[in-house]
This record gives sequence, C-alpha cells and structure tokens, in this order.
Amino acid sequence: MSNNLPTPYFMIDESKLIRNLEIAKQLKELSGVKLVLALKCFSTWGVFDIIKPYLDGTTSSGPYEVKLGHETFGGETHAYSVGYSEQDVKEVADICDKMIFNSLSQLTAYRHLVEGKASIGVRLNPGVSRAGQDLADPARQFSRLGVQEAQLSSEIFDGLDGVMFHMNCENKSADDFIALLDSISERFGHYLDKLDWVSLGGGVFFTWPGYEVEKLAQALKQFSEKHAVQLYLEPGEAIITKTADLVVTVVDIVENGMKTAIVDSATEAHRLDTLIYNEPASIGESSDEGLHEYVIGSCSCLAGDQFCVAKFEQPLKIGQRLHILDSAGYTMVKLNWFNGLKMPSVYCQRSDGEIQKLNEFDYQDFKRSLSQWSVK
Ligand SMILES: Cc1ncc(COP(=O)(O)O)c(C=O)c1O
Repeated sequence: MSNNLPTPYFMIDESKLIRNLEIAKQLKELSGVKLVLALKCFSTWGVFDIIKPYLDGTTSSGPYEVKLGHETFGGETHAYSVGYSEQDVKEVADICDKMIFNSLSQLTAYRHLVEGKASIGVRLNPGVSRAGQDLADPARQFSRLGVQEAQLSSEIFDGLDGVMFHMNCENKSADDFIALLDSISERFGHYLDKLDWVSLGGGVFFTWPGYEVEKLAQALKQFSEKHAVQLYLEPGEAIITKTADLVVTVVDIVENGMKTAIVDSATEAHRLDTLIYNEPASIGESSDEGLHEYVIGSCSCLAGDQFCVAKFEQPLKIGQRLHILDSAGYTMVKLNWFNGLKMPSVYCQRSDGEIQKLNEFDYQDFKRSLSQWSVK
C-alpha cells in the first residue's frame, strides 16, 4: 500500500483484525467462554466499533481503563488493579460489573464499597506459568500478582463470586495451556466449585497460525462444566496480533562497521517493548535472501535504541518508507514523548480500502504533557 501520509504513523488493518476476531468468535461458540479485551494491550478506542460485535466487554489494569472500557466499549466491564486506593474503588465500583482484587488485604479493606454494585472476585496466583521472560512471568519469585495458594482457606470463597488467574504470555500451545488448566482444576477445584465465574486471564495465543482452537475450546468447555462456572479469557495480544504496522521514513544512513538506516521513530518512544524485552522488530520490506544488511536505527539519543537488523534486496535510500510489522499490542498504549520526537498518527484502513484517521498529535500535545502552568 502506498500513500502520502506523513510518517511516522500506525496503520491498523481492519481485514486483519476481523480475521483474528472471527477466530475469537469460533472459540466462543465452541466453548461457551466469554472474552473480554485486555485494554492494557490495546485501547485505541477508535476501532472498538469493529471489535465490539465479537467480544463480551473489556478488562482493565487501572482506574482509567475501567472508565474507558465502560464509556467506549460497553458490554461487561471488569475492573482489576494490582493496587487500588480507596478513592479508585469508589470511582470504579459504580461503572464495573466485576471487581477483582489483587490481594486478601484489598478485598477486606474495600469489599464493602463494592457489595451490591458489582460481582466480587480476587486474583489467585497458581504458582505455575507459561511466560517467556522473567520480567513478564506472574509466577516469578516473590510475585506480588495475586493470592498464593498457601494463603487460601475455604471460608474466603464463601464471600466471593469469582476468581481470576493470569499465568500465560504468548502461549502458542493448546496442550501447554491444558496442562495449566488441569493443574488449576486439581489444586483449586474444590474452591472453584463454590463460584459463579472464573477468568483464566490473557496470554493464550489462539489466533497464532496453527493454534489448535478446537482442542482449547473442548478443554474450556469441560472445565466450565466440571466446576459449574462461567469461564472468561482476557485476550489482548491474540486479538490485535499482526494487524498494524508502524510506518516510518529513512532520514539518514550512516556507517560504522555496519550500515545503519536511521528512521523517524524510536523504540524507546513508539515501540517500547522492542527495548524492554529485547525482541527485534520485523520489517515488511526486508528479505532473508537480501544482500544489503542494515541496522534499522532509531532517531532517539539512546545509544542502543534500534528496531532490528534486516536484509534488503536493494540498498536503502533516504526518504524511503519502511513498515515495522505487528506494532499494535502493548505499543500504542505505551507511546511517550521522549526526545520531543513527533508522535505517530494513527489510522485505520477499512476493509473497503478507505483510510480513516483516528488520531494525530502536534507540538501543543507535547508541551501540555510536560506542564500546563508555570510557577508564579
Ligand atoms: C491480568 C491480565 N489479563 C490479561 C492480560 C492480557 O494478556 P495478553 O495481551 O498477552 O493476551 C494480561 C497481560 O499482562 C494480564 O496481566
């Protein structure tokens, strides 16, 4: 696709999004699971009208996400936070359908503010997980995420409607997930039998090519029947994976042992997880067989800030555009103004080819993010 839009910008592709959503729909139909979009991963609400018909609602990690889900998505609004203040709970209680506390102390302190308004749950930490990196592993040593098994007793569940587990990160294997499910059923089953609902969190990559969706669905159905609970999943990445590119322009090419193409964007500001998780990006125009190798370097001041190393069939040229693939999940939600770089605009290419603008930013947005008032 070529156009004259000024770079950098994100382009969300509706057809690709619908492809993922159709798989989500199939999973729901086969299993009876309900799906709530994890706003922490993706909350570009300008495309929620595309997503809404397929999913049941949203889940959140902080008070503003609850409000956004309630306002812009509707359906069921799940509220979760690792740490609520009393004020947060008061604000959220009136607009959420389920309130999930991270600890027994938060449950004890705030449940009276929620009772009669929303269904009440806690997060449990099953102590096992499928997560690639320690930084993102909810079962890591000394984890603060959820109540540990040893701290549970049967009475706690008499006053609860549901629980949430989250223990996966980009888990592409149905068998792996089923092993976790079996372990949860065995160790927590007698507690779950007392509840109305169980959320199994996010990180189940059921839209990945070759994922055994039917096998997953069958296991979810069996689990929900065995424990007589409504099951939920909280997909983020699975919904939005491979649906959006970050489009950038090469602004310079420098050489120091290797050629580096400097583009008008930076991982630190516009694609932060590339840096945090040290996971190189992929470039749409690259070719494994290409003879021309470049570092795709960012225009931030951070010495190690680069998108990836990539090969191309032709030498890159200043002014040329590159598509940094799969740049939606945990990306637009983490944009920042480091270095005063121009913030990427956000567009959606509709299924009929029309390009619609969802957001654009200018110098005033940058300035306002830093101060609104100066000292007197
Ligand atoms: C509690 C919870 N639910 C859902 C998600 C969404 O996970 P993913 O985007 O990998 O599906 C996360 C991710 O960290 C999470 O912590």
